[in-house]
Amino acid sequence: MTNIVILTGAGISAESGISTFRAEDGLWANHRVEDVATPEGFGRDPQLVVNFYNERRAQAADAGPNLAHTALAQLEAAHKGDLLLVTQNVDDLHERGGSSHVLHMHGALNSAMCASCQHRWPAPMKMAVGDPCPSCATPMARPDIVWFGEMPYQMDRIEQALEQADIFVAIGTSGNVYPAAGFVQMAAHYGAHTIELNLEPSAVVSQFAETRFGNATQTVPMWVNEVLED
Ligand code: APR
Repeated sequence: MTNIVILTGAGISAESGISTFRAEDGLWANHRVEDVATPEGFGRDPQLVVNFYNERRAQAADAGPNLAHTALAQLEAAHKGDLLLVTQNVDDLHERGGSSHVLHMHGALNSAMCASCQHRWPAPMKMAVGDPCPSCATPMARPDIVWFGEMPYQMDRIEQALEQADIFVAIGTSGNVYPAAGFVQMAAHYGAHTIELNLEPSAVVSQFAETRFGNATQTVPMWVNEVLED
């Protein structure tokens, strides 16, 4: 049985119409990261941050899963070995494409969190500054997003899976942000075959044993069919 770990990034949702971060017209071309994706930014101007994630939540709700998302869901349903799907994305297109076990290491737009007691609950489409926490009533609701300088979620579980992986596939990620960009090195160290499926070479492309370039809606279904035929 082959154990597979998949890491996805913004590129898998690009063909669904969701902006990536580092393209010319990407999110970081139009917003200052330090203002909208750091705890300090949230402390300085919570309204700017809440608005930014309200916009992204609306964009994600208007988008639909694409053939890459649905191919990964088919793999989850049919694959006999272990499969861990880790996404850096905060949209819910993997779930809407049929995947039922998705590890959102950078959090999720459809989750809200209390900055005081860390309670989490389903986020409304539009969050407001000072929304009260349903658990402790403190008016400290924030988007349940892992900001720069914060610890990504479930790293122990991810590292365990990378140690057991026979195949590690990175899809649609530029390899600029750690710890996710370091997963390929860890997987290769433990003997996994590593594959990059991307539109263009990532910053860590040289660390992959195999690279395939193209749109995710082409490369992912093709790769999934190969795995299921094996
Ligand atoms: N098919 C496949 N890959 C694509 C497509 C496509 N149609 N369109 C773009 N890509 C690729 C780009 O070539 C790029 O390598 O997707 C990648 C997107 O890179 P980024 O915009 O940097 O997104 P990502 O790697 O997910 O960013 C990682 O950075 O800002 C933080 O928390 C944020 O989770 C995000 C993290």
